[in-house]
Amino acid sequence: MHVIPRILSKMAFPTLCALFLLSLTRISVCTSEGWILHVTDFHWDRTYTNRDLSCNGLVNTHGLYGDYWCDSPFSLIDVTIKAMKNATQGKDVDFMLWTGDSVLHTADENLSIDNNVGILTNLTNQLQQTFPTMDVYATYGNHDYYPNNQYPPHNNEIYNRTLEHWRNWINDSAQETNFLKGAYYTVKTKYGLRILALNTNLYYTSDKVTANMSDPADQFVWMESVLKQSRRNHEMVLVTGHVPPGVAAEGGKTWFYQHFNTRMVHILQQYSDVIIGLHFGHEHADTFRIFYGHSGQPEMALYIAPSVTPWRYKTSSATGPKHNPSFRLIKYDRTTGRHLDLVQYYMDLPESNKQNRPIWAIAYTATTDMGIPDLSPRSMDNFATRTKNPNGPEFQNHLKWRNANAEVMPCDALCHSLIYCNYMKLHEHEYKTCLRDTQQYTASILGKRK
Ligand SMILES: *[C@@H]1O[C@H](CO)[C@@H](O)[C@H](O)[C@H]1NC(C)=O
Ligand SMILES: *[C@@H]1O[C@H](CO)[C@@H](O)[C@H](O)[C@H]1NC(C)=O
Ligand SMILES: *[C@@H]1O[C@H](CO)[C@@H](O)[C@H](O)[C@H]1NC(C)=O
Ligand SMILES: *[C@@H]1O[C@H](CO)[C@@H](O)[C@H](O)[C@H]1NC(C)=O
Ligand SMILES: *[C@@H]1O[C@H](CO)[C@@H](O)[C@H](O)[C@H]1NC(C)=O
Ligand SMILES: [Zn+2]
Ligand SMILES: [Zn+2]
Repeated sequence: MHVIPRILSKMAFPTLCALFLLSLTRISVCTSEGWILHVTDFHWDRTYTNRDLSCNGLVNTHGLYGDYWCDSPFSLIDVTIKAMKNATQGKDVDFMLWTGDSVLHTADENLSIDNNVGILTNLTNQLQQTFPTMDVYATYGNHDYYPNNQYPPHNNEIYNRTLEHWRNWINDSAQETNFLKGAYYTVKTKYGLRILALNTNLYYTSDKVTANMSDPADQFVWMESVLKQSRRNHEMVLVTGHVPPGVAAEGGKTWFYQHFNTRMVHILQQYSDVIIGLHFGHEHADTFRIFYGHSGQPEMALYIAPSVTPWRYKTSSATGPKHNPSFRLIKYDRTTGRHLDLVQYYMDLPESNKQNRPIWAIAYTATTDMGIPDLSPRSMDNFATRTKNPNGPEFQNHLKWRNANAEVMPCDALCHSLIYCNYMKLHEHEYKTCLRDTQQYTASILGKRK
């Protein structure tokens, strides 16, 4: 009895499904659910165990699969790509998102164009060998450029050399011009979803080249025209890139120069009817942001995937948390674009090193473990609202998931507020107001417990 309404609800799903409706033996073909594989921030350190260029001088044990102080050795990248392959078995994975930062964290003097392009080429080939028929939509991270972060708003050798390897994935000669100019492009997936692949590194505050420009590489004008066209053609759009818009929870500043952040958020909000979701990397943390409409209704969600690299940052004033290596699968409705579920995978790094074999597990499945029926903006808002209680299971779970189930650092009232406000506030001024209000509230709750 379950079958009838299920079929009816998929009647909108076009021809392929209609054909198979005639033969009820192949009902499964009618399903309009697909999966998206998302991996980000490999940060491959080819010098792990000899020069340890990414490790800030802190590594001591050199585990087979890496160390929390270092970027990924090849052994980790290898088992991660294999685990990705395993996780996709038996699932209809429509495409992969690969959101950049393949190059290790180290000083420019230890990098070069050849080094960075070499890393990118190797990882591209590894992915292609393991997933020969998968469409991959790849974007650059800030670390992939040489010198680090300094993406110019025009053609250069790195874009040219990368395109040689990504041409098959982009598979559209009209988009090659965009890629050569600014490393952005758009393609339509085989199920009609439009991918808007952005080079948001051009807006990053570490990019000194673009600081005073209004529209580096004309990407804003271009993306607006793509979105406008998509609305006219009744297409759904998925936005992907590396550095996300909004505020960085550590530090409370936007990743983008403020004028870029304002413009980007404004454009995205105007097309919330067209955009089905946004997928980014860069933060090495599992988190998300919600875009609200004028009357406060949740309209879009931006999902940030945690990294493959386990690396913790270390500066003179701060030390970042440990991370386990990770990747994710997202289930979506091919007809409506609605994001239905998310399965987050992680590797237990210390245990894998101890046992000399990669130990992967599911950190959480959104619909089972987050208390939400799907990943829609409304559901994400519902979850975010419940994290306002710093002692509640939602926030405690999120703290664990943020770093892919690595050991959780203590989180005081400020830490809680930084994270909570980060879900909802995309501009610095409103973020600051939220911090002030939430911190008082959190402190009163944490105080009560003592
Ligand atoms: C980077 O290379 C320079 C010059 O080869 C060297 O002096 C420096 O120690 C290297 N940096 C690190 C972190 O090893
Ligand atoms: C990438 O580099 C690793 C380590 O040097 C090597 O083992 C592997 O074969 C390379 N992969 C490809 C596809 O070239
Ligand atoms: C990049 O390639 C294009 C043509 O594909 C060429 O016109 C341009 O000069 C190249 N740029 C560089 C920096 O080599
Ligand atoms: C490229 O796109 C064309 C037409 O859209 C399609 O027939 C072809 O299979 C695609 N090639 C690859 C390698 O995806
Ligand atoms: C941008 O403008 C600031 C202030 O006017 C100036 O100090 C800086 O040098 C400019 N940067 C570039 C790359 O032109
Ligand atoms: Zn990164
Ligand atoms: Zn980054």
